[in-house]
Amino acid sequence: MGNIFFDIENDINLMMNYRYVQPPQIAYFVTTMDEFGNVNSTPATLGTCNSANQPRDGKPAEYFLTFSLVRKLLKDDGNYLPARDGFVNLQHSDEAVISYIPVNLMQESIVANLPFPRGISELEVAGLHTFRSRNIEVPSIEECPINIECKIINQMDLGETYMLYVAKVVGVSVNQSLVDIDNKGLGVFLIDPLFEINITRTKNGNSRLNYGQLDRNKISIPGDNFGSTGDWVGTFENFIKSEVGRGKITKSEHNQILDLKNQFVKDRSNRDVKNKLTQLLKKAVYGEKFQ
Ligand SMILES: Cc1cc2nc3c(=O)[nH]c(=O)nc-3n(C[C@H](O)[C@H](O)[C@H](O)COP(=O)(O)O)c2cc1C
Repeated sequence: MGNIFFDIENDINLMMNYRYVQPPQIAYFVTTMDEFGNVNSTPATLGTCNSANQPRDGKPAEYFLTFSLVRKLLKDDGNYLPARDGFVNLQHSDEAVISYIPVNLMQESIVANLPFPRGISELEVAGLHTFRSRNIEVPSIEECPINIECKIINQMDLGETYMLYVAKVVGVSVNQSLVDIDNKGLGVFLIDPLFEINITRTKNGNSRLNYGQLDRNKISIPGDNFGSTGDWVGTFENFIKSEVGRGKITKSEHNQILDLKNQFVKDRSNRDVKNKLTQLLKKAVYGEKFQ
């Protein structure tokens, strides 16, 4: 079977399901504040955690998230929709709280999707409550088990419609009851988070957003029959040594691999060395069966 190619940049009548490009993504509230202290909460999914750096070398942890909000008048389904209130607030402020949305707040997230006048708090209308954040003025959401306090450190126009924000995490509040059950390091997985799947029409003809969820019984473990012992990435040398330990390559193949690697890093245009190294690496990973 062949492929259907969609020529995105040249086909102005594109008939592609854009959900081939936009994957299911975790939903969260982006809470912001206007200059009068009015709280606004925008449900969003276009962005994720882009950097997770643990404390090391005496330096604190660093986490960064991105999200993007519509920044201008948009024609959608026959209506003209203004820029998101969240975007307007972030023109005067660099603070936002990101709160992942658990399944028990599904209705509230859709209430927050309604086009309330700027300054009216979606959270209040939805019946949600806030508490003081520790490191920023914008409040956190009581009913959300995880609230991530952020400072916007960068932003850029994304094409015609969106503003992409890069947010540095400056504090995280995690509900004690979540910490208490998180004995396997699953974190946000445990809140049964919602994922935006697509937007379809209901039987009444209204267009509505659909959510999907993770299946807790479907955690896949690829196993450890290849790769470095110890570290989950590790060094090349340790990985190759580990495969000798598993008996998949001999000591002499181990030496051959390191020798080929040294040749290849000096000249990555050498096809012969590349092919030999690739074959031996296949053996190191899969054993005899791919030889
Ligand atoms: C699950 C979900 C995800 C959404 N993702 C985004 C998004 O990533 N960016 C965006 O601009 N709007 C997104 N929206 C739409 C906005 O939340 C919606 O237009 C909202 O009314 C805007 O609120 P605001 O004007 O108070 O900022 C999403 C809505 C839902 C329900």
